[in-house]
Amino acid sequence: MSVILGIDLGTSSVKAMLLDCENKETAVETQKYEVDIPQMNYAEQSPEVWWNAAKAILNRLKDKYPDSFARIAAIGFSGQMHGLVLTDKEGKPLRPAILWLDQRSREELSLIQQNMSTEEMGTVFCNRVFTGFAFPSLLWVKENEKEIFEKIGHVMLPKDYIRMKITGNIGTEMSDASSTAIFNTPKREWAWDMIDRFGFPRDIFPECNEADEIAGYVTKQCAEETGLKEGIPVVYGAGDQPAQSIGNGCFRPGTIISNIGTGGQISTYIDKPIYDKELRTHTFCHGIQKGYTIMGATLCSGMSLNWLKNKVLEVENFKELSKMAGEAEAGSKGLIYLPYLTGERTPHMNPSAKGMFFGITLSHDRKYFVRSVLEGVTFSLKDSLTIFDELGISGDTIIASGGGASSDEWLQIQADIFEKRVTVCEVGEQACLGACIMAGVGTGIFQSVEEACERFVSFRDKVYEPNRENAKIYRELYEKYGKLYKQNEAFMN
Ligand code: XUL
Repeated sequence: MSVILGIDLGTSSVKAMLLDCENKETAVETQKYEVDIPQMNYAEQSPEVWWNAAKAILNRLKDKYPDSFARIAAIGFSGQMHGLVLTDKEGKPLRPAILWLDQRSREELSLIQQNMSTEEMGTVFCNRVFTGFAFPSLLWVKENEKEIFEKIGHVMLPKDYIRMKITGNIGTEMSDASSTAIFNTPKREWAWDMIDRFGFPRDIFPECNEADEIAGYVTKQCAEETGLKEGIPVVYGAGDQPAQSIGNGCFRPGTIISNIGTGGQISTYIDKPIYDKELRTHTFCHGIQKGYTIMGATLCSGMSLNWLKNKVLEVENFKELSKMAGEAEAGSKGLIYLPYLTGERTPHMNPSAKGMFFGITLSHDRKYFVRSVLEGVTFSLKDSLTIFDELGISGDTIIASGGGASSDEWLQIQADIFEKRVTVCEVGEQACLGACIMAGVGTGIFQSVEEACERFVSFRDKVYEPNRENAKIYRELYEKYGKLYKQNEAFMN
């Protein structure tokens, strides 16, 4: 029986999973890398760093699991969304990729807003254009790096670059294409009118397909570099949010996911491209054919904790931080954290939003700072749930996903702040699993996403129930949290 390879090109690391379809065993290898911040508000990564990291983990999987590796029958992808990769006609990178958390394109946002009404953004993109999305980043390159702009052969998204290195073919798919915000989301095609309006050549935008369609086959050169067999079919794959949603078994309306990775998202599957008229959330194409996802996104989620760990407390690992948070009482004695260290998308859509600790007293020590970061990030996710409620999207249970779901303390905080039951999948790397499922569906190993999810997605026995007393404390703090932003917004520029 087949083994499927799922590669998730994340912001902090690349992961690859081998999924044995017979015994359901998984093996995962990870390679970390940094986000380069060459100057304030910039966030970049080199596509070559991604490819070298991907090659390293593929070689490690081959050495550790030679039998499974030799049986790989299909390859799929998940990847950090929105970012801009620019290559020449031959597919050679022209500059480092401009990532989703980059904020350099604020002036371009104004330019876009002068040429496009919010209403038009809604009907065409189903999204507000935001810094770090490929559209304003490309406009920034057009305005600021003219020689590079003129050499552009292809625009692609991060995972598309890795797929190109494996198959030799250039292309993208609907979920990532819609996350560039120069894509007609309801029509599922590039927004050609806007591409013309903003002066981009049409031919730099790649062919766009559904996530489970076959994009190509492992080339001889890739086989030599990675040990993958030449000729293995490779599907397009999807952005990391739709991919993790599939890996969490969320393939029909009614299930809500709270994902805490570098960024954080509340998302659900929808079968029509409905969107928030104030454009506080995102509506993107799903990795499931013809489907959509609606998503609230907070930018600095796990990254807030990473910042606290490395730059402030200088603590060794997350486990230690999680333990510290568990030693502080719910509500952190009134200490409130606003997680807007890299601006904020949902609900404020303000690239200039800033982070903040409020309510510090002499009684606060390190553990309260840790706990208030976990609580503040969760308040920010609750903002998305509140908008979902307004849109009539609700559910009693939340599936917690991503790195944040490995902390017992954070899972309980989520249950208490959301006032909903929280469950967690058995398989830890849901985006990789989603990538494997798309590959399996696209190559006929599985009949459907539904069939694959029934086989491979199961939940832990432990369910986190909301604690009423904590929920009451959090309700009051959440109100203050919202007001703190509103009353300080004018100072955040
Ligand atoms: C989603 C988002 C992140 C990135 C990186 O809107 O910004 O999920 O895809 O993980």
